Amino acid sequence: MSNVAVIGSQWGDEGKGKIVDVLSKEADMVVRFQGGHNAGHTLVIDGVTYKLHLLPSGIVRPGKMSVIGNGVVVDPKALLTEIETVKAQGIDVTSDNLLLAENATLILPVHPALDVAMEEARGAKKIGTTGRGIGLAYEDKVARRAIRVCDLAHPEYLKERIENMLNHHNVLLKGMGAEEMSVTAVYDELMSVADKILAYSGVAWRAIDDADKAGKKILFEGAQGHFLDVDHGTYPFVTSSNTVAAQAAAGAGVGSKKIGYVLGITKAYTTRVGSGPFPTELHDAVGEEIGKKGHEFGTSTGRKRRCGWFDAVLVRQAIKTGGIDGIALTKMDVLDGFDEIKVCVAYELNGTRIDYLPASTVDQANIKPVYETIKGWSDTSQGARSWAEIPAEAVKYVRYIEELIEAPVALLSTSPDRDDTILMQDPFRS
Ligand code: GDP
Ligand code: IMO
Ligand code: MG
Repeated sequence: MSNVAVIGSQWGDEGKGKIVDVLSKEADMVVRFQGGHNAGHTLVIDGVTYKLHLLPSGIVRPGKMSVIGNGVVVDPKALLTEIETVKAQGIDVTSDNLLLAENATLILPVHPALDVAMEEARGAKKIGTTGRGIGLAYEDKVARRAIRVCDLAHPEYLKERIENMLNHHNVLLKGMGAEEMSVTAVYDELMSVADKILAYSGVAWRAIDDADKAGKKILFEGAQGHFLDVDHGTYPFVTSSNTVAAQAAAGAGVGSKKIGYVLGITKAYTTRVGSGPFPTELHDAVGEEIGKKGHEFGTSTGRKRRCGWFDAVLVRQAIKTGGIDGIALTKMDVLDGFDEIKVCVAYELNGTRIDYLPASTVDQANIKPVYETIKGWSDTSQGARSWAEIPAEAVKYVRYIEELIEAPVALLSTSPDRDDTILMQDPFRS
């Protein structure tokens, strides 16, 4: 029996929320380990949609423990609002089923303010961030000026830390022509939510260790995707955390050997929201059609997602550099009804065929996808719950992808609904 890490293998929005929800039936604990409320994870259960940003996707299942690990950047107001939203949907959230790592970093109002101002200053070269202050909060963490959840319990120290932080940021805000922030205002705002936040805070690493020692099954829920990883992604068009499964250990406080199986969530085609290179992007009617059928609009920001064909070069690289054992192939149903389907099998860079994504931003912008075209299928895979219900040509597509990416498809997803999932290989038993 092994613990499982679920991570995105493309540019996010692969369906991680749905798959974590499916697998959390068997898990005892679900742990977020990086990112923040830039994430938007959608769950559809009996026709009801839940959109989660900071809360682990296990929160909707009674009796499961949800943990927000130290690697997450937490906007206290966003967390409290999200808790209220899911409570209004009938989900129980108390300190019995939600634990917030006391050493998690906080996102303060100065972070989204600077995030937005910096994006404006970048103009046409903007990253297309979610504007949630994620990058700025991680910058502060690495610069050792961040404020953490545990600091909320020590008002005098908290004030000192706010002063220290604003000494730095107010210079920047002033330089950008934006309004400076007052220590008192930030302090008062934090103190107004401190007790509510502290009610969920605790020693997360110990709770995870206790669960592990008791033989409980732990599911680590990644946010974003491999090519948004600050090291392995399409830098600088990335998020500011490591999104790979290895980060689950550091961002939760467990040894890396505790992560037994890495499941890479992979869309049957490719999408990206925000700026940056996207070799298989389609700027034609086919791209529009994929976006329409797949309802490709951001869960957090509502932005239209860019769409394109499946890029096997990218996913194979994510598998090799991220240590992915098997994939969950999602949104198969969106490809129903296309006469032909293209798959990117290599790139061409300055006339030379290459089999990997080069690191240089200049090269990434110049690579051309090399496609193989395969026959589509007219029958529907939508809502299929068994392998036998999948059209023969769609089965061929799955097999072809497995061969190209050099990893097995462990799960297949055929609709947003929790139940429309086919399990071929149980990650907890692999
Ligand atoms: P995440 O960020 O990786 O959790 O993914 P999002 O929730 O942002 O985006 C995935 C979208 O696709 C959501 O609206 C899901 O409900 C939906 N979805 C997930 N799996 C499937 C599937 O197999 N088929 C279809 N049609 N939609 C799916
Ligand atoms: P989930 O977990 C898709 C993208 C943003 C932007 C870049 C940097 O739902 O898959 P940031 O606000 O993180 O500094 O923005 O990363 N991005 C995502 N794209 N899904 C996400 O999360 C994302 N989180 C951030 O659009 O391009
Ligand atoms: Mg999402």
